[in-house]
Amino acid sequence: MSVSEAAQPIIPTPAFSRRHLLGIEGLSPLEITSLLDLADDYVDQNRLIDKKQTTLRGRTIINLFFESSTRTQSSFELAGKRLGADTMNMSVKSSSLNKGETLIDTAITLNAMHPDILIVRHQDSGAVELLSQKVSCSVINAGDGWHEHPTQALLDALTIRRRLGRIEGLKVAICGDIMHSRVTRSNIHLLNTLGAEVRLIAPKTLLPAGIERLGVTVFNDMRQGLVDCDIIMMLRLQMERMAGSFIPSTREYFHYFGLDREKLALAKPNALVMHPGPMNRGVEIDSSIADDRAISLIQEQVEMGVAVRMAALTALSRQLDRGDHL
Ligand code: NCD
Repeated sequence: MSVSEAAQPIIPTPAFSRRHLLGIEGLSPLEITSLLDLADDYVDQNRLIDKKQTTLRGRTIINLFFESSTRTQSSFELAGKRLGADTMNMSVKSSSLNKGETLIDTAITLNAMHPDILIVRHQDSGAVELLSQKVSCSVINAGDGWHEHPTQALLDALTIRRRLGRIEGLKVAICGDIMHSRVTRSNIHLLNTLGAEVRLIAPKTLLPAGIERLGVTVFNDMRQGLVDCDIIMMLRLQMERMAGSFIPSTREYFHYFGLDREKLALAKPNALVMHPGPMNRGVEIDSSIADDRAISLIQEQVEMGVAVRMAALTALSRQLDRGDHL
């Protein structure tokens, strides 16, 4: 055994024992916290000069992104590389999909190359789950339509937990384009499962009907919704998903639903601000808040993203070790 192998930390087996990570809905508090605990260790290791490990040596990971992504794709790639796996980015634009190959054909073709984990982002809700039924490897949902984005909710939770020490009992407001937000759906499930109080703040046109059934309180007035909140998660207006006109103008939107100092003052005195990125500065959030490291956790969220994705890859890889995929 080489010195570097001997220096590898012993990683506890997380309580997460599923073959795929397709969503947060249905995960138990223990499954979620065990992934967060594992990610916590990776945060420290990622701050070392030598970040490379061999936990996933020999594994092949394919990033299959049908929608563009900066943070999610790059952090999955980095996460795989830091764990010693071979990672490949599948560029969908240059694939046979342009020649009429279907999503499932692509998945079956890639599956024949024996990847261990496929990381998939797709514009249609449910597409990643469908794909997971057609392959023999593990699948991670990196965002499907408006449905779920589980690793984003996990990284948000890790960011909050590291800063405030807990999730339980916190009042978390999620503001903006709830309608088109998979980040919101995953966060609602996670925050409710860990005992936070979730508020949604949005104009009526950006709220899906019946969302209260997920166990949230809905506000159409940001000034009311923010009162007494510990955490404010701002969302991007997802213009590319808007077929019609959902808001009168971005200027008017900022007036009512953009986060500025005046509205922030309505939340708890030490309230913290988050955003999954990419941000529309001056549309949903004022730059002076986004860039204020005393208030904004946005850079921490990006850092936690790599650690959480390392934890998810490790947990799924443990299942492969047990031969559950055969
Ligand atoms: C989010 C996404 O793609 O769902 N971004 C991300 O993963 N960091 C949110 C968004 O695109 O606005």
